[in-house]
Amino acid sequence: MPGQGSGFKAQRITGMKPSSGQESLFHESERRVRAAVIGPYREGGSRSKTESASFGTAQPEGRSGRARLAEALGLAQAIGLDVVASQIASARQIRPASFLGKGKLEELAALVGAQQIELVVMDCALSPVQQRNLEQALAAKVIDRTGLILEIFGRRAHTREGALQVELAHLAYQKSRLVRSWTHLERQRGGFGFLGGPGETQIEADRRLIEERMTRIDEELENVRRTRGLHRKSRRAVPYPVVVMVGYTNAGKSTLFNRLTQARVAAGDQLFATLDPTSRAIKLPHGGQIILSDTVGFISGLPTMLIKAFRATLEEVEEADLILHIRDIAHPDTEAQRADAEAVLASLGIDLTAGRRLLEVWNKSDLIDGASARPSLGRPAVGKPVIVSALTGQGVDELSTAIEERLAGERPVFDLVLDPANGHEVNWLHKHTEILHKDEGADGATHYRVRVALEWAGRVRKKFARAEDRQPLAGQNIRQRA
Ligand code: GTP
Repeated sequence: MPGQGSGFKAQRITGMKPSSGQESLFHESERRVRAAVIGPYREGGSRSKTESASFGTAQPEGRSGRARLAEALGLAQAIGLDVVASQIASARQIRPASFLGKGKLEELAALVGAQQIELVVMDCALSPVQQRNLEQALAAKVIDRTGLILEIFGRRAHTREGALQVELAHLAYQKSRLVRSWTHLERQRGGFGFLGGPGETQIEADRRLIEERMTRIDEELENVRRTRGLHRKSRRAVPYPVVVMVGYTNAGKSTLFNRLTQARVAAGDQLFATLDPTSRAIKLPHGGQIILSDTVGFISGLPTMLIKAFRATLEEVEEADLILHIRDIAHPDTEAQRADAEAVLASLGIDLTAGRRLLEVWNKSDLIDGASARPSLGRPAVGKPVIVSALTGQGVDELSTAIEERLAGERPVFDLVLDPANGHEVNWLHKHTEILHKDEGADGATHYRVRVALEWAGRVRKKFARAEDRQPLAGQNIRQRA
């Protein structure tokens, strides 16, 4: 249904469901919508600031038009659109009114008519006016990259927090459009005003509705976060290290997560299969346990408002003992993707070059033709990468061992002797430490080798005066036990 204005009116906002059932921008039924994906990318050369802004936020340089279009196609398919046409429309100059030039518009309009296309996805940032003019010229609904990503986020938000964050981002998007699209259309609202006194302009009323809803969501989010903070705190009391998987969307995180956990999470050739973090406790080869978390995939040109809205989803990353950066090394833009992922992490205040918190995992090695592709892969930010194929399982055992070794170096190990009758201390040990080894001694006492989180080491020393510190024997403790 052409006419984008309908997408941004206050009625929609009041009617919006604050749950994962959030209404779709363009789905009226289960029928798949016929769509075209257009990549209006600038041909070569550097862009001026204004042009960059028009093309969307943070579009990385050096990414080929083909790869960008392929990614946009993947995004469109991820929400079940029936993509019947796609093309790069190399833009030499952006038209303020309609983004594309007249000739291109006519050509597209003909394509839309011939293919009965209902929705045109423009992989760029459109102003509200451009969007409306394009819809009129093409006689089809038009959405831009932000709209598309919001749609995907909306569908993939499974938790209460995810849904609230998506709605917040949606409202922020609507609010920005409202301001720009209505400024010169401003009109007086009549005397019906239960939303404001007579004389209040429509734009003010609409904006206020949005702001009120945003404030309510903020409050609700604060509650959800507080609860989650408490959960996380109680989880930190458990002695298991937290390992978080991050990476560019479609890098294979979910597939690898499944491999490592043998659990079932949504995985498939669908981008953003994992908007909400999924955590599982898993056992490492030598019995140590970790909490493994999968996170939402990063994406180039993620609108700023979305980065902000999803910051909380990535809070876990900030506190992780180890970050696995999963990379699709078979992707032609793997280096640009790496830069994107690192930029997002840097925006969260995580410096990947400092410390030993990062382990790069080069996934999809099955698609790489031996040494021939290697030289183009560059070097990981820190240390040696682990090369795996989540699909075939190749290298996954090595990955578990690498995780184990990385973590072992960080966590102190103690030898303790306890009287088994001392239930209180035995319980404490089981609750707060990771038992690596347990032996009944000839003396009737139990000999333990335990590993603890760094922040618990002091307490162990204090509580068990005879605790023998085995630190630092990075990696060796585990092998001794094997
Ligand atoms: P988001 O949820 O969008 O962040 O994606 P993801 O990183 O979780 O990717 P996912 O695991 O959903 O995998 C994306 C696609 O890549 C799927 O079609 C997988 O089957 C495929 N894939 C994952 N790992 C491998 C691999 O090692 N080799 C090959 N050939 N394909 C893989």
